[in-house]
Amino acid sequence: MYSLIRPLLFALDAERSHNLTLGLLRAAYRVPGTRALVRGCYADRTPSLPVEVMGLRFPNPVGLAAGLDKEARCLAPLLDFGFGFLELGTVTPQPQEGNPKPRLIRLTRHAAIINRMGFNSSGLADFLANLEAQPHHGLIGINLGKNKLTPDAHAIDDYLTGLRAVYAHADYVTLNISSPNTPGLRALQDEAPLAALLGALKKEQALLARTHGRHVPIALKIAPDLDDTGIDAIARLLVAHHMDAVIATNTTIARPGLEHEPRARETGGLSGQPLRTLSTQVIRRLHASLQGRIPIIGVGGISNADDAWEKLVAGADLIQLYTAFIYRGPGVVSEIGRGLAEKVRAYGATNLADALQSARAKS
Ligand SMILES: Cc1cc2nc3c(=O)[nH]c(=O)nc-3n(C[C@H](O)[C@H](O)[C@H](O)COP(=O)(O)O)c2cc1C
Repeated sequence: MYSLIRPLLFALDAERSHNLTLGLLRAAYRVPGTRALVRGCYADRTPSLPVEVMGLRFPNPVGLAAGLDKEARCLAPLLDFGFGFLELGTVTPQPQEGNPKPRLIRLTRHAAIINRMGFNSSGLADFLANLEAQPHHGLIGINLGKNKLTPDAHAIDDYLTGLRAVYAHADYVTLNISSPNTPGLRALQDEAPLAALLGALKKEQALLARTHGRHVPIALKIAPDLDDTGIDAIARLLVAHHMDAVIATNTTIARPGLEHEPRARETGGLSGQPLRTLSTQVIRRLHASLQGRIPIIGVGGISNADDAWEKLVAGADLIQLYTAFIYRGPGVVSEIGRGLAEKVRAYGATNLADALQSARAKS
């Protein structure tokens, strides 16, 4: 079905096609019967593959990565496609336009995307109003960023504002310090600023947990463009600050395997298939450094069950995808779920955690 629609969507400018698709999905969901139809085609065909991570029980380990539903507008359809969880955002405290268009480029031959969106966001107030208007059953992560106009010295304040605002609405919260499209943002990955950020956010989390009577986990999302020393330094800080999870990785500023692709010279973060190996390497290194003390959410170039398995065996506890959803359509979620269930059976295990333990011991 998606193979019929895709040529029409791909004939349009990438960002226009993205907005049109989300708009059409929302409109379709106002028609009685649509929801049952979508669930029948997708969610009902996604096997139950429960995993417990960050103290939360995920119905399956395949999540939607941040950036697709930045404004929390499409919860029900996305959950009905079979995702085990959705990460919404990035949301910034104040509304901001993001970078000038065009800022989303498809590299179709490589099943990749370059984006330089620059945190286009309608801001926290609008985001929360959208979220509250959509009662939902499903786990929701909320990904926080900083406004471009907020001076780097006050970046922590933006994340604190975000955490306080979304705390009651999120199953987990992500601190996004790894987008390549906000000047200065990735410098927050350096040791001193990162220690300050994590210290402040964990302190606030403890206060909020007391007020709300609920611990909402906080994950840190990192870039794939870190060397091993940088990854190890981050791992040490994650442990020292008792972080709840790490998400690896965001898009890359490198262009692996795209030396002969003229459009690869476009500025921005690269996602999709060319990112896969780089992000798996970061996960493997993180896993070696963390020794299972902090869960890893693996993301970057996953487009089928083998790619998902590769990330899981490298050390991920959950996975996410974005670009493959654009290229392969919503069926990719249940297809990956079925493929993972098959792998669990092939290991003679009854759950994903046991199968992974065997697979990691062999690798
Ligand atoms: C168009 C686009 C927008 C994105 N926006 C965000 C964002 O707002 N926040 C974020 O943390 N990651 C964002 N990402 C990164 C994805 O969440 C993900 O980390 C990355 O694309 C790698 O996964 P993939 O290869 O499956 O797409 C974006 C990716 C794309 C393609």
